[in-house]
Amino acid sequence: MSTRTPLIAGNWKLHNTVAESRALAGAIAAHVRDGSGCDVVLGPVATSLTAVKQALDGSAVGLSAQNTHWEDSGAWTGELSPALLLDAGCGYCFIGHSERRQFFGETDAGVRKKVAALLAHEIVPILCVGESLEQREAGQTLDVVLGQVEAATEGLDAGALAPLVVAYEPIWAIGTGRTAKAEDAQDVHGAIRGHLSELKGKSWADSVRLLYGGSVKPNNADELLSQPDVDGALVGGASLSADNFIPIIDAGVRRAES
Ligand code: PGA
Repeated sequence: MSTRTPLIAGNWKLHNTVAESRALAGAIAAHVRDGSGCDVVLGPVATSLTAVKQALDGSAVGLSAQNTHWEDSGAWTGELSPALLLDAGCGYCFIGHSERRQFFGETDAGVRKKVAALLAHEIVPILCVGESLEQREAGQTLDVVLGQVEAATEGLDAGALAPLVVAYEPIWAIGTGRTAKAEDAQDVHGAIRGHLSELKGKSWADSVRLLYGGSVKPNNADELLSQPDVDGALVGGASLSADNFIPIIDAGVRRAES
């Protein structure tokens, strides 16, 4: 269906002790076959990154942080940097998650600096964008989402942006059990790809992986992942148990095989 490798990412948010993280990562890694055609990434809390890295050792599963600062070091109490994330073994980092934008004052300008800093360290940014319920009801979905994508990639060309992943996560679907209809997700994903094509060129835009996030569960993953521009999923609640997350990975493998 597509030459883009599907990607299933688990966002553990503020959950799991070190021991719980290690056990969950081990259970997931045991299921993931190298060469399955679907990439799998886990995003634990920062205190569990090292333990999860160890649990994933020798497996095909990648490690993601949930946020970063844009500077490598300095007087930034409480922050983590791309250099330290690399040191901890992270190949990916979520950026601009709506919870960070809503509750921690993350701005488009900050998101852009973080995206650039991660790319400079060869860490794949998983850039999160999405509209609120009010914005959707006011018909502003595409303005908001395309605006966020444009702001986060401003001044960076296709070469610099090469590995970027974009996750479309409608805020009203996160943690609510209310998923976007597969066709609605496809409409937004298609618009994101079209906009990236206009901004940065078609060949890169055609290669960018676009994930859907917001109440992805085992029972809706196949339908979402059957859409032409839904290349994977960013999964919160259902990534916290291997029993729920593994069937979603399997849906990603089916997309790779289709
Ligand atoms: P959810 O979260 O799957 O629990 O809706 C998704 C996310 O916030 O990344």
